[in-house]
Amino acid sequence: MRVVAIDGPSGAGKSSVSRIVGEKIGFLHVDSGALYRILTWQCLAAGVDMDDPEAIAAHTARVEIECRPENGRIAYYVNGEQPGERIRTPDINANASKVAREKPVRDYVTSLLRGMVKYGDLVVEGRDITTAVFPDSPARFYLTASAEARARRRQKEEVDKGIANQSTEAVKASLLARDAIDSTRKYAPLKKADGAIEIDSSDLTLDEVVELVMNALPEDWKYL
Ligand code: DC
Repeated sequence: MRVVAIDGPSGAGKSSVSRIVGEKIGFLHVDSGALYRILTWQCLAAGVDMDDPEAIAAHTARVEIECRPENGRIAYYVNGEQPGERIRTPDINANASKVAREKPVRDYVTSLLRGMVKYGDLVVEGRDITTAVFPDSPARFYLTASAEARARRRQKEEVDKGIANQSTEAVKASLLARDAIDSTRKYAPLKKADGAIEIDSSDLTLDEVVELVMNALPEDWKYL
């Protein structure tokens, strides 16, 4: 079982880098944030009070997420449907960290993630993959970038995908609010793991970041 683990704050480029590295080495891409987003989406759809930790824990425990390896990644299904862009809205951005800070929610997602090794080798991105979910991986990265660079990328992505059309300032405020909760929460907060390789992508192209990651992988993981 081989796992490339990539953590970092919102908008640092984890998804693009993980997808491309996964394609290059034939490892399945796993977006762990999407699991927290799905649970947030389900809570919001059911009208759960997002300031009530017990209600969040009770509702998320009932959500069944089916994981299937598909087209180089692990795809998620809820009631037979993929959530798609429904989990990328500003409302979910604003509430996901409240769901992700709850211990029962983290335990649920962590066990789903660890179970995915049965599908093959993985590139897993998130906030606690290098510190808590797969801390023993020999390939652990902390990908970061300035708040300005991260907000610019996210804003463009939202416009390109037709998800929202917010100002870069509004996107930046939302990212920083989420990062603040994610990095100060009690359970598995976002932080750079000891021994993880830090890459600041503020002034790097996507190809350059991918190359840095590829160069740092164990030699026998680099080829398909
Ligand atoms: O990466 P993202 O923006 O899709 O993550 C959504 C939320 O889930 C965000 O608040 C961070 C949280 N998250 C987490 O706590 N642990 C992970 N491994 C991945 C995401």
